[in-house]
Amino acid sequence: MFDKAVKEFLDYTENYKYLGKPILLKINHTLRVAHLCAQIAQALNLDFNNQNMAKLAGLFHDIGRFEQFKKYHTYADKDSIDHGDLGYEILKEKVFIDKDYEKTVFEAVKYHNKYNLDGISDRSKLICEIVRDADKIDILYLDALDKLITYNDNSLISDKVMEQINHQKQVLHTNLKTDADNIALHLSFVFDINFLSSLKLIKKEKYIMQIMDLYPNKELQQQFAKIKTNIDTYIEKREKDAR
Ligand SMILES: [Fe+2]
Repeated sequence: MFDKAVKEFLDYTENYKYLGKPILLKINHTLRVAHLCAQIAQALNLDFNNQNMAKLAGLFHDIGRFEQFKKYHTYADKDSIDHGDLGYEILKEKVFIDKDYEKTVFEAVKYHNKYNLDGISDRSKLICEIVRDADKIDILYLDALDKLITYNDNSLISDKVMEQINHQKQVLHTNLKTDADNIALHLSFVFDINFLSSLKLIKKEKYIMQIMDLYPNKELQQQFAKIKTNIDTYIEKREKDAR
């Protein structure tokens, strides 16, 4: 069943490949996210149906991206359209998955990029939280490969952003001023991870250290050291709470 859905996904995205590299990057991102969703769902010991829904939600979470890029030539929602909402509309029109799974998967897709999950049903919430974790993990993976973040201004992390990190909170987009703030935002994803198994994956792959190592600016490295301490304490606490 999942393999059939992958085929549907690949057939659908085939029509967008002429738009070039940004589309290929999204296809690859999606396939990795679906795989990560499977890993997380398994680590959570979910039943067969929930594991399937997690994989499907991962596979279709960014289905709105292709039409978004075709129409607006950007992936920035603020300059175009909410890609979660658009994905939801596309899924309602196309027959990609089993009827039994539709409601949950569609809802998870709609909400995967929302600021909060108010209004989502409990069953969809769990699946949506898995997708959100997987999405963040893949962004950290790409960051570690130096494929996402632009750091051109040799900047430092601004005070407000550091303050949020000291409170172990994910940095708000509205506080971003410099390129370094953007790195800090990505590092702060850790504080918004839902499941311990996701945190363990980030820790195991050493994404945080790899990202920090990419930027040799000495003062920035001092700020990173503080962030690292915060992240380590945060993960330790989550591990302890789970025991
Ligand atoms: Fe995504």
